[in-house]
Amino acid sequence: MISKLAFNCPTVTLSNGKKMPILGIGTSPFGGYSDEAFVYALRECGIRHLDASKYSGIEEQLAVAIQESCVPRSELWITNKLWPLDYGYDSAMEACLASCTRMGIDYFDMYMLHWPDSMQPGRSNRELRAESWRALEELEKLGRCRSIGVSNFMIHHLQQLKEDCGAVPHANQVEYHVYQQPRQLVEYCHEEGIVFQGYSPLAKGQALGDPTVLKLAEKYGRTPAQICIRWNIQNEVVTTPKSTKIERVRENCDVFGFQLEDADMEELTQLHDGRHVCWDPTNVE
Ligand SMILES: NC(=O)c1ccc[n+]([C@@H]2O[C@H](COP(=O)([O-])OP(=O)(O)OC[C@H]3O[C@@H](n4cnc5c(N)ncnc54)[C@H](OP(=O)(O)O)[C@@H]3O)[C@@H](O)[C@H]2O)c1
Repeated sequence: MISKLAFNCPTVTLSNGKKMPILGIGTSPFGGYSDEAFVYALRECGIRHLDASKYSGIEEQLAVAIQESCVPRSELWITNKLWPLDYGYDSAMEACLASCTRMGIDYFDMYMLHWPDSMQPGRSNRELRAESWRALEELEKLGRCRSIGVSNFMIHHLQQLKEDCGAVPHANQVEYHVYQQPRQLVEYCHEEGIVFQGYSPLAKGQALGDPTVLKLAEKYGRTPAQICIRWNIQNEVVTTPKSTKIERVRENCDVFGFQLEDADMEELTQLHDGRHVCWDPTNVE
C-alpha cells in the first residue's frame, strides 16, 4: 500500500496574479493514457495541475477521471490548448467552448495557442495567430479562460503577437529538459513577464539513462526522474511529467524533500545539446 503524498505544491504567479502550481501531470497521447494513474495523481499525490490538449483526444476521459477523483473544480488548475486547425476568431471561440463541454467544466485556468503554425495552407500563420489570440482575449473577458497563453512560441512569434495585438501572454509552454534549454527564449519570457513552462521534463525518458543523471540519482538517493524534475523546479520552470504507471506518478510527485546543490544544478545544465524529443518550432514563420 502506497501512503498518501499530501503536499502543498509551490506555485508561480502569473502577470494577472493567478497562481499556477509548479508541478502538474501531463496527458500526452504518446505512450497511452491510464485513467488509474491519472486519478491516483489527483487523489493520492495531491496533484492539482492538469495539462491537457484537444490534440490528445482524451478530453472526455479526463472529464470522467476528474469526477472520479472527487477533487473540487475550484482546487484544480486545468490547462487546455487550441489546436491550429481551429485557428481563426469564430472557430477558436467554438473550439474552446467545445473543449470545456467535453471536459465537463465551465472554464479553463489556462488556454493556449498550441503551436505557431496554423496548418492551414494558403493562410498567413501570423494573421491566424493574431485572430485566434483576439478570440482568447474575448474568452478571457467572458470568464471561460482565466489566463491565456501560447505553446511552442519562439521569440519572433511572441514579438509578432505583441506588434499585432499588443499581447503579452501569461505563459509560454515549450520543450524544456536537460538536453533542450532555450536560454534566450527563457530570458525573453522573464523580461516580458511571461511565465516559462516546460514540457517533456524527462526528455520522454531519454534523460533517465544519462551518466550524469544516474550519478546524481545515486548521490541523492533519488531516482533519475526525480533528479530531472527537481532540476526543472529549482530553475523555477513549471513542469508536467507524464506517466501511465502509479509507482512512477508517485515518484514524479515526490520531489520536494530534497535540494540539488548549485554545482550539481550546473552539471545538469551543461548537458544541453539542443536536441528536440518532440517538435521543433524554430523555423515556423
Ligand atoms: N505543448 C506541447 O506541444 C507539448 C508537447 C509534448 C508534451 N507536452 C506536455 O508535457 C507532458 C510531459 O511530456 P511527455 O509526455 O512528452 O514526456 P516526459 O514526461 O518527459 O516523459 C514521459 C515518458 O517517460 C516515462 N516515465 C515517466 N515517469 C517515469 C519514471 N519515473 N521513470 C521512468 N520512466 C518514466 C513515461 O512512460 P510510462 O508511461 O511507461 O511511465 C513516458 O514514456 C505531456 O504529457 C504533455 O502534457 C506538451
